[in-house]
Amino acid sequence: MSSSMATPETPPQSSQPRPSISNHKPFIYFVSSFLMILLAVSVSFPRSSLSPRKLAIFNKFLWFVHSIPDKMQNQSPKPHFCVLWMAPFLSGGGYSSEAWSYITAIHGNIKNPLFRLAIEHHGDLESVEFWEGLPQHMKALALRLHQTQCNMNETIVICHSEPGAWYPPLFRTFPCPPSARRGDFLSLVGRTMFETDRVNPEHVNRCNQMDFIWVPTQFHVSTFTQSGVDPSKVVKVVQPVDVDFFDPLNYEPLDLRSVRKLVLGKPRYSKSVPNREFVFLSVFKWEYRKGWDVLLKAYLKEFSHDDGVALYLLTNPYHSDDDFGNEISVFVKDSKIERPIDGWALTYVIDSHVAQVDLPRLYKSSDAFVLPSRGEGWGRPLVEAMAMSLPVIATNWSGPMEYLTEDNGYPLPIAKMSEVMEGPFKGHLWAEPSVERLQALMRHVMSNAEEAKAKGRRAREDMISQFSPEIVAETVINQIHTILSERT
Ligand SMILES: *[C@@H]1O[C@H](CO)[C@@H](O)[C@H](O)[C@H]1NC(C)=O
Ligand SMILES: *[C@@H]1O[C@H](CO)[C@@H](O)[C@H](O)[C@H]1NC(C)=O
Repeated sequence: MSSSMATPETPPQSSQPRPSISNHKPFIYFVSSFLMILLAVSVSFPRSSLSPRKLAIFNKFLWFVHSIPDKMQNQSPKPHFCVLWMAPFLSGGGYSSEAWSYITAIHGNIKNPLFRLAIEHHGDLESVEFWEGLPQHMKALALRLHQTQCNMNETIVICHSEPGAWYPPLFRTFPCPPSARRGDFLSLVGRTMFETDRVNPEHVNRCNQMDFIWVPTQFHVSTFTQSGVDPSKVVKVVQPVDVDFFDPLNYEPLDLRSVRKLVLGKPRYSKSVPNREFVFLSVFKWEYRKGWDVLLKAYLKEFSHDDGVALYLLTNPYHSDDDFGNEISVFVKDSKIERPIDGWALTYVIDSHVAQVDLPRLYKSSDAFVLPSRGEGWGRPLVEAMAMSLPVIATNWSGPMEYLTEDNGYPLPIAKMSEVMEGPFKGHLWAEPSVERLQALMRHVMSNAEEAKAKGRRAREDMISQFSPEIVAETVINQIHTILSERT
């Protein structure tokens, strides 16, 4: 995504574990480290070159942030208790956007709070591009929540990341919880998820060290408890999707010509065909798990140039090189898909960074969303597309089963389970979506545009009634109140 993500060997200084810290200091330490990062990010220069003038700009910015009236501070008396949410807030990616959705939901819906909310970056490297692409109000909220001062003994810590980042971290990251002495905190909650059919023993062990494990779906409740995580600790807390931000009525479509790169097919100029293609969109990190091979196979076998369709792949690298166009060409050659007589169906890649603020417009410029993953934790692009009233085709396995139904979209049947062949989850199982069924569903969505639109509208209704920030915030706040009443 950004150059900073490509260099995990050189983490920022704040990533050093600091096991022996006293009761109040660490949070002050966090404040300065985090703000220095934000400062560097906000005005786009390296942290090491802070001139007095730049510091002055920064101080002005801070003053601005301080001067925003705080809803929570106006209420008296101010609660002692804190919830410290630690997550890869500055990284972009799945856990990051998930964490943002929780804290904005809680902040916006907290009415009679028994606690104050604090946040800390943890679990992955910071991405300058991601921070800069955030809407201004989110940046301001982050800075404000980061300044919440808490006593550790009155704080519930939520470690929202993969368990390998929890104390003691298996890689270099600011540890969560920040202290080795677990008793220092009121309670510890791990918020995590996986994309395969099980949880490995090291992760089970780390989960069982926590007081609670929050997972987003019933699928995870099953896989976690079946793998040995103490069932009394496992709680389902679904994810919110920002249905106000992702509201199709508020946006004009993005001009796709400004961001796309042609990979296959010839753009059409003929007058005899409609001048706008039927657009399938997919959004994913470039990795095998996401089933991009399945998607390309189904799309290129089913459609050809004269169908008047286009596939857009918004992607970014995942430990892979950048040349997606070339990878796709090689893949098409190796998989021996026959080139149709009238030519390939249009296939575009969008591999430049699309800022968070432009995402709704990207969805708005599409007719259908498709993601045949082999496994998903939650599938944020899916719920975002659904909130944007798009008909969605996604694998009927793992996370998406929590929200995708035949009433609000197109669950893609799986052909079989298959073994994960490499990486940290080698030997686990995940789903192999059916290429033939995907071909049929994509053709169906295109040929039954009215039905597909109706399902898209239903998708938005379901997102509003089940996964809106207000609804999910209530669940989270109730969980926190339950912990507080048990611990105090
Ligand atoms: C937590 O520690 C602070 C400062 O040491 C102390 O004033 C407060 O009473 C403690 N709170 C609880 C719930 O023990
Ligand atoms: C999706 O999976 C569930 C659970 O296995 C099953 O009951 C349902 O029929 C499936 N739906 C489709 C469309 O395959």
